[in-house]
Amino acid sequence: MSTEEVHARASFSETVSLSYSEGSTFAGPCPSGSLASMRRGLTEGSGVPTEPGADRAAPERVPSSLHAHEPQPGDVISGKYQLGEIIGGGGMGSVWMAYNIPLGIDVAIKLLPPRHFTHRAADRLAREARAAARLSHPSIVRVLDFGRTRENVPYVAMELLDGVSLAQVLDRSSAVDPIVTVQTLLPVIDALRAAHAAGVVHRDLKPANIMLTTDHLGFTVPKVLDFGIAKVKEIDTSYTPIGTLLGSAEYMSPEQVQAASSVDERTDVWGATAVLYETMSGRTPFERQHYHEVIRAILSEEPTPTVALDVGDDALWTILARGLAKDREARWPDMHAFGEALARWLIDHGEEVDSTGGSLAARWLRPAPQRLSFPVESRRRTDSEDDTYY
Ligand SMILES: Nc1ncnc2c1ncn2[C@@H]1O[C@H](COP(=O)(O)OP(=O)(O)O)[C@@H](O)[C@H]1O
Ligand SMILES: [Mg+2]
Repeated sequence: MSTEEVHARASFSETVSLSYSEGSTFAGPCPSGSLASMRRGLTEGSGVPTEPGADRAAPERVPSSLHAHEPQPGDVISGKYQLGEIIGGGGMGSVWMAYNIPLGIDVAIKLLPPRHFTHRAADRLAREARAAARLSHPSIVRVLDFGRTRENVPYVAMELLDGVSLAQVLDRSSAVDPIVTVQTLLPVIDALRAAHAAGVVHRDLKPANIMLTTDHLGFTVPKVLDFGIAKVKEIDTSYTPIGTLLGSAEYMSPEQVQAASSVDERTDVWGATAVLYETMSGRTPFERQHYHEVIRAILSEEPTPTVALDVGDDALWTILARGLAKDREARWPDMHAFGEALARWLIDHGEEVDSTGGSLAARWLRPAPQRLSFPVESRRRTDSEDDTYY
């Protein structure tokens, strides 16, 4: 994946000039941006997500004030984020480029458009924020804030990623060299290893939820996005959103298709394998014309081996085939085992690093005690302390 494919996006702060200081008025476009409304914004909403599942039993009634105002470029929310343009969106939220006025930086804001507001959707966005916020990894998008607009519509503020989604890359070039594919997706597998260690299963891996960015040295750094349907161990023991098949059909594991509440990290092993398969071959492992055919294929048909598509070698297919084992007991047991197998395959092909420049041996092959590190005392709160917070 060449760095040219990751095109630069003009900084929103370059296109909107704003002067801001405590007690001053905005000089930039700000239709709703009087100082008074800004102050009001600062006191609106606690910014604390509601308890997961709390809204599930609530009737899907929509406050009438929500219909009053669709977000517009130039709007200032919570008194500090000025919306720029929409840069993404899909199923549920719209993702906006925005300018964090007090800090003077561009951020991304995922906002639930009022016309899509339901209590369940709002709950989902809050859960997404909480799941991603507990994760800190170079290949996981950083959540910066959560809040509610004046209309009580929830939003998540994230670091703004400058890059393209893997889906966009695949739209342009039908398939990527298998070695480059594995090098580029190993950091994603490491990110998921970290997420699983923190008790978070993503459950919606697909090319549209992986962005490719470039770091200051020109290395490709993939970022995992969209924890909208992630499952969080301590707080989700009984959480199953009603009436929705979770995930995107072509990347769903058999157990997701059958019973969404029982999935564990091996569902992400399946999803990551499906993304690897598609990236190197240009087609998903269970590509079919109709939705029900995809579901049937996931449950009962074997995928075409990548070698039969002239992609990679037998050793690589053996690794991928185990990632797509229908019985999860036969699948790679976790991200570490899966990543180690892929790293060994790369090393056997003469590679030493992943796309970020990270050493394959250091990341995947060395047992933990051999690592050099300064003794750092963890300041993280324990799980039991966390429980009191929920
Ligand atoms: N932090 C971000 N920085 C830049 N673009 C983003 C960011 N988050 C999301 N996007 C863009 O918005 C799209 C949709 O985001 P996502 O979180 O997957 O929302 P949805 O729940 O609607 O699928 C992504 O595919 C990406 O193009
Ligand atoms: Mg998405």
